[in-house]
Amino acid sequence: MDNSLKSYERLLQQNKAWVEQMNSEDKFFFKKLSEAQKPEFLWIGCSDSRVPANQITGTIPGEVFVHRNIANMVVHTDMSMLSVLDYAVNVLEVKHVVVCGHYGCGGVLAAMANKQIGLIDNWIRHIKDVYRMHQDELERISDIKARQDRFIELNVIEQVYDLGKTSIIQNAWQKRGGPIVHGWVYDIGNGLIKDLKVSMNSDEDMPDVYKFEKNPLD
Ligand code: CO
Repeated sequence: MDNSLKSYERLLQQNKAWVEQMNSEDKFFFKKLSEAQKPEFLWIGCSDSRVPANQITGTIPGEVFVHRNIANMVVHTDMSMLSVLDYAVNVLEVKHVVVCGHYGCGGVLAAMANKQIGLIDNWIRHIKDVYRMHQDELERISDIKARQDRFIELNVIEQVYDLGKTSIIQNAWQKRGGPIVHGWVYDIGNGLIKDLKVSMNSDEDMPDVYKFEKNPLD
C-alpha cells in the first residue's frame, strides 16, 4: 500500500482492487447486479462502524437491503426507516427483516445514563422508554456489564415488536404471512451473532390495542 496516499484516497484505490477481484471471480458479477436487486433480507442495524451488515454475515452486494441508524431503532415517525421498510416489504418482498443490535452499543448505554450529549438526546429518549418498561428486570441485575448487555437485548426485542406494530408489517403478514421479523445481537468482542429467538410473523401475541383492523380492500 502506498503510504503517501491521503486516507480517503486509500478507499478509492481499494475500490479498484475490489472490482478487479470480483471480476476475476465472476466476470458477470457487476452486469448481473446492475440489472436488478432481489434481496431476501432487510437489515436494521446500528450505524456503529464495527457492525457492517454484509461483512459480518458473509453476504455480498445484492443480498441485504440495509437501514442503519444509531442504536438500530424503529421509530414510528422516522420517514427514512418507514420508507426503507415499505420498499423492502412491499416492492422487494423480503422474506426476513432482521433487527441487529450489538453489545457495547454507545447509543443504548447513553440511554442508561443522564449525561446530555446534544441533539442525539432526543433520539436516545426512545431508548430510555425501553429502560422504563423493563426497569424492574434491569435493576435486579447487579453486575453492571450484565445489566448493560440485557438492556441492549431488550432494546432489540422492543424494536422487533415496534416493527410488528406498523401497518406496513401487519398488512404484509395478512397478505402473505411474511416477512418473519428477527431480533439478533452482535458481539463486537468475538464477531458472533446471537439469535434472541423472538421471531414474529403474525400479530397473535401482540396487545390488542396495537392490532389494526384488517384492510377490507385486500
Ligand atoms: Co450501536
